[in-house]
Amino acid sequence: MHAFVRFREIGREHKAHFVAWFEPEHHIVELAAPFFARRFADMPWSILTPDLCAHWDGHAVSLTPGVAKSEAPSSDRLEETWRRYYASIFNPARLKVKAMQNEMPKKYWRNLPEASLIKPLIETAERAKSAMTASAASQPHKPQKRREPEITRTHAEDDIETLREEAESCRACPLWKDATQTVFGEGPQNARIMLVGEQPGDREDLAGKPFVGPTGQMLDRALQEAGIDRSKVYVTNAVKHFKFLPRGKIRLHQKPDTSEIKACRPWYERELAAIRPELVVAMGATAAQSVFGKITPVNKTRGRLIDHNGTSALVTVHPTYLLRLPDARARDMEYQRFVDDLKIAAAVLQKSARAA
Ligand code: URA
Repeated sequence: MHAFVRFREIGREHKAHFVAWFEPEHHIVELAAPFFARRFADMPWSILTPDLCAHWDGHAVSLTPGVAKSEAPSSDRLEETWRRYYASIFNPARLKVKAMQNEMPKKYWRNLPEASLIKPLIETAERAKSAMTASAASQPHKPQKRREPEITRTHAEDDIETLREEAESCRACPLWKDATQTVFGEGPQNARIMLVGEQPGDREDLAGKPFVGPTGQMLDRALQEAGIDRSKVYVTNAVKHFKFLPRGKIRLHQKPDTSEIKACRPWYERELAAIRPELVVAMGATAAQSVFGKITPVNKTRGRLIDHNGTSALVTVHPTYLLRLPDARARDMEYQRFVDDLKIAAAVLQKSARAA
């Protein structure tokens, strides 16, 4: 079941639901469902079978009685692409029919979109193999001329507005349930600096924008003192929903845990791919964990440029930490250190502007 379930997309692109039809020989649906919940945690899905159906809404698995095959979609917009891909990776020179049929027993074929290709691919394998042997070796592609950064950015993989819309319905962790809305990153797509915070606070949750409350005001002041124009910076958070404990009329901030940081990390990665900044500034431990993909102590990494998968990263404290320091003198000193860290970011920008 793990290998032979094929989902088909139904519904609108941003509110998509993925539905599969499967006919197990044994009562395995309930046992297999947690695997699919882990494997496809961020996509809502249903696996329909004649005896029992399993559903995942991004939060919990639920079970309902079985249905008829006619309830399941018979195709979707990506089916032809998947079949073409399957045909293109089929290597006639490596064909071992017996081994293949052992791995992919025929009893599953009737529900696999690629199955109807298998017979013709096997039949034409000999001819395709001779043609491959007879043809000249393919030549390596000429290296492409390096594109100018501006052009690369306009062709970035995802456009931030599309990502923002997609993230509105994110259910990858349970935080969406109590939060008012997803608070996605904000700033120009060609920003050269990306600032990453922890998660939206109370004010951000209501406004739908990152760093607009008291912490945001302190951040704005520090950026200004460091010589960085916030309107040119892309500002986001490691976790995009507000996590809190209700206490009367107050919503008490709760630190996101590792599972929530991990569940949200794909958004950070896609923002990074879309913005392609010269420098990422991780503010605080949660941001550092998201940026580096692992627990990263702030004190050990703070204030120096670190290369992370080809992008420069800088770790500093979270501005909320400064607001919470009880001693005014310590607060002033720490604030100054924070500004000094941001000045490192400003210097990176100046240096690259001079080099351009
Ligand atoms: N703290 C954060 O980490 N992010 C915000 O957006 C606001 C406060």
